[in-house]
Amino acid sequence: MAHGFIFSHKMYLKLSNEFMINNLILESTTLWDFPRQNYGDIPHGDNKYNGVTPAFVIWNLLQRYTKEGDLVVDPMCGSGTTIDVAKELNRKVIGYDLNVVRPDVIKNDSRKIPLKDNSVDFIFIDSPYSDNISYSDEPQCIGKISCEKVEFYNELEKVASEIARILKQEKAMGWVIADQWIKKKFTPVGFLLWQRLEKYFEPVDIICLTRHNQTSNTQVWHNRARQFNFYLRGFKYLFIMRKPTIIKSENELKQPFAKKID
Ligand SMILES: C[S@@+](CC[C@H](N)C(=O)[O-])C[C@H]1O[C@@H](n2cnc3c(N)ncnc32)[C@H](O)[C@@H]1O
Repeated sequence: MAHGFIFSHKMYLKLSNEFMINNLILESTTLWDFPRQNYGDIPHGDNKYNGVTPAFVIWNLLQRYTKEGDLVVDPMCGSGTTIDVAKELNRKVIGYDLNVVRPDVIKNDSRKIPLKDNSVDFIFIDSPYSDNISYSDEPQCIGKISCEKVEFYNELEKVASEIARILKQEKAMGWVIADQWIKKKFTPVGFLLWQRLEKYFEPVDIICLTRHNQTSNTQVWHNRARQFNFYLRGFKYLFIMRKPTIIKSENELKQPFAKKID
């Protein structure tokens, strides 16, 4: 349901016809707050999987940017939340991951995706944000590289360039990422990734996803944050971007969009 919005019964009925699908409603602002990982009675992904994506996020994106029969790809699908939501909405779906936890996930390193150029209608990816979570023992896991190293962004850029290659022109992708504050050091992971992504994609919008269920969400940590003058992470970014019709030249690829504004 939409949050903090009181509407009349008449408006509600109009909304239910136009924007409510199976008791779920499309988000209308850039602040999305889902208290639970799942919706409905059937599981979407596995809420025990480290770093699992809230299923509502993918549901909202597929409603807006895809139609029935479209091909959706998740290059780092983990417990398969994208697979479950896409299938339920009658989209075709391919989910890859290095860490295969169910039979319909294809083992693949997302720095090379085995799909043809311009063949995919929508891509969702919730990548590692740093080396803060252990996903598997796979040595190729990008989640083994600290976001404080440039290598982390170099490797994510390889994934971004593959996404740009397989996506059809004018089609969208959604990428979830978060900043890091650890050992008294803040790293603006979102901004640093965005600089890489804008070489390949045009911005559509940036959504803030409220963070829930973090290990630091305890009174002890809230008090530490006040006492020692730092902030606990309250949100993740969801970058929504589109593959442009005109592909940027080699020279433009070296010059991020932000530089052109100067
Ligand atoms: C935040 S989790 C994704 C969670 C998933 N969206 C879900 O709902 O379960 C990030 C995933 O990236 C995968 N990963 C990390 N490096 C990878 C790589 N090079 N190629 C493919 N998958 C990778 C990890 O195994 C992990 O499952």
